[in-house]
Amino acid sequence: MKALVLAGGRGTRLRPLTNTSAKQLFPVANKPVLFYGLEAIRDAGIVDVGIIVGDTAAEVRQVVGDGAQFGLRITYIPQEAPLGLAHCVLIARDFLGDDDFVMYLGDNFLVGGIQELVAAFTEGDYSAQILLTPVDDPRSYGVAQLGRSGQIVGLAEKPDQPASDLAIVGVYLFTSAVHEAVRAIRPSARGELEITDAVQWLISNGYHVHSHLITGYWKDTGRVRDMLECNRIVLESIQTRIRGTVDDRTEITGRVVIEPGAVVEASVLRGPVVIGADTKIVGSYLGPFTSIGDRCTVEDAEVEYSIVMNASTVRGVSRIEASLIGKGVEVTPARATPNTHQLVIGDHSTVRLRG
Ligand code: TTP
Repeated sequence: MKALVLAGGRGTRLRPLTNTSAKQLFPVANKPVLFYGLEAIRDAGIVDVGIIVGDTAAEVRQVVGDGAQFGLRITYIPQEAPLGLAHCVLIARDFLGDDDFVMYLGDNFLVGGIQELVAAFTEGDYSAQILLTPVDDPRSYGVAQLGRSGQIVGLAEKPDQPASDLAIVGVYLFTSAVHEAVRAIRPSARGELEITDAVQWLISNGYHVHSHLITGYWKDTGRVRDMLECNRIVLESIQTRIRGTVDDRTEITGRVVIEPGAVVEASVLRGPVVIGADTKIVGSYLGPFTSIGDRCTVEDAEVEYSIVMNASTVRGVSRIEASLIGKGVEVTPARATPNTHQLVIGDHSTVRLRG
């Protein structure tokens, strides 16, 4: 069994952060979302992993390396353009050979690992296995329609009128039968080779595709609110670990992780909160479900339910909430008079000011 991890793509829904960085490396509780997937793959006993990379290949290679840090053997497979999930399978043919494999979307987050799913697939006699989970608004997902006995009747990618509320989770299991499917299908209206079309092709051609309803937590972290929600879920389960320095004017309630070299002075921390290495928190309030990266400064400010990435500064501003702040960002007050907002913001940014 091998794994194919998809870490290319456009990431349009997370612009402008994805203009310069790989969304699969965005931090969830200060750890790249991709690492959770790689660890789940390792824990399922898989060693050989192919990673599809696009424009952000250099950054992914630099952070993930040869996989030794996870106990994995990693092969990078460059994709010339984001031509679809099934295109990723197409270009990974040499790496995959005729082995069974798990295809894992690098920006997906699944609690509970994939050990049991991989074991069930190995024991079962299926050509493919997809995971399904009920969602509130299925229109932005691949959607499956099941028959009376639970068999898959049809699949649709981001349908306007979904046939069910069952979204396809970004972890698929395939035998080598999928290679014929990805060669047979044609690009969709949006110009991509869709994996839903490949799975539909398998079903239409008499292959047995098994669906498995998952009950655990799953999130596609492709949008800001999903990143924040995923961060919340992981922070829910952190245990207090204080390796930085906290002065006696600081008040801590709830669970907090403070990494080595971090300094917290005269602040209020209401966990769960994670503070990265060599970060300074001074005279500030950090509220529940906040992750502050490494080498940041938060001074005379309030931050809650937010992610602040490495080397950023938030100083002298009132409550920042439900925000995703990139690397090396500065958020500071404008001059008091005239009472203006002064912005230097990249393309496709979202800024919500108090008016
Ligand atoms: P998506 O999130 O569906 O696509 P995207 O990354 O282009 O994002 P957006 O819709 O916001 O523009 O992709 C799921 C995962 O698969 C993600 O980790 C990126 C990866 N991917 C590839 O590696 N190659 C591709 O051709 C596509 C479409 C996605």
